[in-house]
Amino acid sequence: MIGLMGDPHPVTGKQKPLLRAYSIASPSWDEELEFYSIKVPDGPLTSRLQHIKVGDEVILRPKPVGTLVHDALLPGKRLYFFSTGTGFAPFASLLREPDTFENYDEVIITHTCRDLADLAYGRNLIAYIKQDEMMIELFGADNLAKIRYYPTTTREQSPKMGRITTLIENGELFSDLGVPPLDPATDRAMVCGSLAFNVDIKALMEKAGLHEGANSEPGQFVIEKAFVG
Ligand code: A2P
Repeated sequence: MIGLMGDPHPVTGKQKPLLRAYSIASPSWDEELEFYSIKVPDGPLTSRLQHIKVGDEVILRPKPVGTLVHDALLPGKRLYFFSTGTGFAPFASLLREPDTFENYDEVIITHTCRDLADLAYGRNLIAYIKQDEMMIELFGADNLAKIRYYPTTTREQSPKMGRITTLIENGELFSDLGVPPLDPATDRAMVCGSLAFNVDIKALMEKAGLHEGANSEPGQFVIEKAFVG
């Protein structure tokens, strides 16, 4: 949870913290914390958060929680990260974690947004991870070559259009990437997007024979809701 102190109460003058759940976009080993947020023009928190300056105080609750952890997945060969919108954030972190590369031969990250501009953060970050000298030194070029990026838009014209759910159902995702259809024996998935997206993709995972995992009982896929800031 991150946030800011709210305005003083008109009568008591007391201030309450205004907090929202965010995914940490930076890797766990990083000295800096990074967050990825939409900016809601009249949103209680993001309307203010987007204007913070160096030296301002941000509240950060100490206990992180979440389901997108490697321990909740059984060993596999190919790892899918399926994201929409700001649901890319946890994968910005996981794409910089050694376990992601050590556990899998291939890491496919899909990101679906309405418009091209919304893909920019993810696109730039992945280009940086694949090309940056420190990243190459940390993970090795062979490991970074495992990352395959599959961006799609649903409203603005772009080279690949369509909801990822549609592209899974009609098989385009797999034919585009030259990989076999989802297989519970080899494929694992982490999902993060809007509630409606999560519901739809969960049904597709289950149709393909994948079972949802948890830390207590690892499975073939895990889901996290992308919280709107
Ligand atoms: P669409 O434009 O067809 O609604 P949002 O900005 O509403 O959070 O959506 C982010 C992206 O996720 C959009 O490209 C949107 O497509 C897509 N999306 C929204 N709901 C679903 C869903 N239930 N299944 C698949 N994709 C979805």
